[in-house]
Amino acid sequence: MHNQIKQKAIKEITQANDLKKLEEIYRTYIGRKGKITEILRSLKDLSEKEKKEKGKITNQIKNEINDMIKEKENKLLSKKDDNKGWIDVTAPGIKVPQGHLHPITLVQRQIEDIFQSMGFSVLDGPEVETSYYNFDALNVPKNHPARDVQDTFWLKDLDLLLRTHTSPMQARYMEKNNPPLRIIVPGKCFRYEATDSTHDIQFYQFEGLMVGKDVSVANLKAIIEEFLKEFFSSSDIKIRLRPSYFPFVEPGFEVDVKRKGGEWLEIIGAGMVHPNVFKEAGYTNEWQGFAFGAGIDRLTMIKYQINDIRLLYSSDLRFLKQF
Ligand code: FA5
Repeated sequence: MHNQIKQKAIKEITQANDLKKLEEIYRTYIGRKGKITEILRSLKDLSEKEKKEKGKITNQIKNEINDMIKEKENKLLSKKDDNKGWIDVTAPGIKVPQGHLHPITLVQRQIEDIFQSMGFSVLDGPEVETSYYNFDALNVPKNHPARDVQDTFWLKDLDLLLRTHTSPMQARYMEKNNPPLRIIVPGKCFRYEATDSTHDIQFYQFEGLMVGKDVSVANLKAIIEEFLKEFFSSSDIKIRLRPSYFPFVEPGFEVDVKRKGGEWLEIIGAGMVHPNVFKEAGYTNEWQGFAFGAGIDRLTMIKYQINDIRLLYSSDLRFLKQF
């Protein structure tokens, strides 16, 4: 029966020479009351096995007929245009599908807006760094494990590496500029480490640096809190500061964030700039400042409730289309 219907439909489609006839064929076979539609509807009374077998063939035929009708329609339409000898300039144009910004870019731009409104300038820095700026200028001891090949992507040209954090821009900026200053530096970082749902080998950070007279931990805490409040524009966010160690600050902290019902997630390393870092930059001890490095991916994950960082780098359109 299937085959008979199919052959009849093919014959009719081939013979159809106007759009009206084609529409009639569509209605006869796959419209709401069409023959194929009726067969599909009747499947519900069959056994599971029969339903599966017959359903598959019927859907296949339905698709074939549909494709043939579409093809014939295009043929008839282009013939119509050829014959009339003019172009309808008022016909709607063909829309080019538009993409949109990646969630990390959206978040980075929001971060920049918030910090600019607090008087910070936004800078860019190199992704390929020297070991001087990535480690030495930041008071990282020669034997620190971060320098190891297990943690850092070193380039063949011995002294160069893919920066492991955005902190080298502290040293680069202070070397060339005098205080007082307020900057943030968003950008990509790389670490040679095992990936999991919150760690990737590439990720984004933004560095924050504020130097002035009388800058204290209170300022650091206030700026970070103000930023997070603005960023999440919500009161269901909790923040905690834990003591931590980074060679380029003293004292040092880790900032964790938690959304209602969620887990604590470490997002920012921070502290008061270490005197050795100021000394290397040529600043006198009348200046104080704070610095921090925040994970942009982690902020994106909390904001949009993404449970695996690797989705951000998967280029999977099913994921990306949700933003
Ligand atoms: C640092 O990178 C310090 N440079 C931060 C800093 C700057 C401290 C200035 C003091 C003063 P840490 O390794 O903790 O610190 O990384 C900071 C943030 O980057 C983490 O909280 C996390 O949000 C993010 N991060 C680190 N490693 C990864 C990774 N593999 N994948 C995704 N995000 C990461």
